[in-house]
Amino acid sequence: MKHTISKELIHFIDSSPSCFHAVKFMKDLLLQEQFIQLRENTKWHIQRGGRYFVVRNGSAIIAFTVPQQDFTGMRIMASHSDSPSFKIKENPELEAENHYIRLNVEGYGGMLCAPWFDRPLSIAGRVIIKNNETGNLESRLVDVDRDLVMIPSLAIHLNREANKGYSYNIQKDMLPLYGDISAKGTFLRTIADAAGIKEEDILGHDLFLYNRQKGSVWGASGEYISCPRLDDLQCAFASLKGFLTAPKQSFMTVHCVLDNEETGSATKQGAASTFLYDTLTRAYRSLHMTEEDYLIHLADSFMISADNAHAVHPNYTDKADPSNRPFLNGGIVIKFNAGQKYCTDGISAAMFRDICQKAQVPVQTFTNRSDMAGGSTLGNISNTRVALNTVDIGLPQLAMHSPYETAGTNDTEYLIKAAEKFFL
Ligand code: CO
Repeated sequence: MKHTISKELIHFIDSSPSCFHAVKFMKDLLLQEQFIQLRENTKWHIQRGGRYFVVRNGSAIIAFTVPQQDFTGMRIMASHSDSPSFKIKENPELEAENHYIRLNVEGYGGMLCAPWFDRPLSIAGRVIIKNNETGNLESRLVDVDRDLVMIPSLAIHLNREANKGYSYNIQKDMLPLYGDISAKGTFLRTIADAAGIKEEDILGHDLFLYNRQKGSVWGASGEYISCPRLDDLQCAFASLKGFLTAPKQSFMTVHCVLDNEETGSATKQGAASTFLYDTLTRAYRSLHMTEEDYLIHLADSFMISADNAHAVHPNYTDKADPSNRPFLNGGIVIKFNAGQKYCTDGISAAMFRDICQKAQVPVQTFTNRSDMAGGSTLGNISNTRVALNTVDIGLPQLAMHSPYETAGTNDTEYLIKAAEKFFL
């Protein structure tokens, strides 16, 4: 079972080299399952018993189901589509010594720089083109899908201090090599060819580097999975699987995958935006329910904010809290923070533990050491727009924000089972 799920997860991540591809993958799956796509720029006609989804910016998606009978609230599970990477700048080609063409990039999110070196990388994202027949601007997904660029290390002989800690400067150290001097002037053509369009039609782009290494299941008994972008596509995958297989519903169920978590969520398609609020209130209005109905329901609703968590690292066991020590394959991690970077409280922790008990899946707990600042996620940010009981959880993983992260093969299944129970 766990290997089938790991294979499916690897297939999803492999098909999702950028946030745009991840959303496209989920959208296609929802269409296959007879969900109806709603557009933000047209009027919505929502029916009891209907299944819908809406996409914003091509990089965030909210799917929901409406119960046939009267219902009392919502069950929302939120995760994020983006992951740390390097974004291709405008005018990206940079010549070096009349021999090399590099690409000018800037950091997206807080990545670990070191593991990006010396591995085949490619480029994916979207281009915006003008349709010359209609005059409209159109977005096209693009994935070059071959070993295209590389960020070579500096040899140890040229920096004897390299193993003693190094401070990476993205503008100097992280520029990928694209080709020899004959590659000059060809970058946009390479992108246009991969997208099946003409170079001169490209009016805009959002393009990112990605790691070409495929996902792998490994360890003495296949207990580990390593893959790019496990944070947070592992949670998005489990959320969608649980959402689609939940057998019946007495709540409005909502699968929500937002963008730009890695840069603070403050965009039109991030958790700080009105996307979730707009979607829910438009659905209620279209069902002829009032603002008062929405607020009454919200008070009885529950949200799971699902974003991966740090497992205890075997080589750095002292970095974990002394009494909250999550391990790979130990189950879903509930995240706590007194400063409310995680919005779990006694009530939402109890609600989530209750769900996991019913689903018969193990839970673990995470909190930062009190002398270390931790990360943040989308739950508390989303709560400032749509305020409801929310728990922050995640699957335990190592090497967070590396382009090749490691998690436990059992844990994906635990979250799918919990999600199924949650959406029941
Ligand atoms: Co994350």
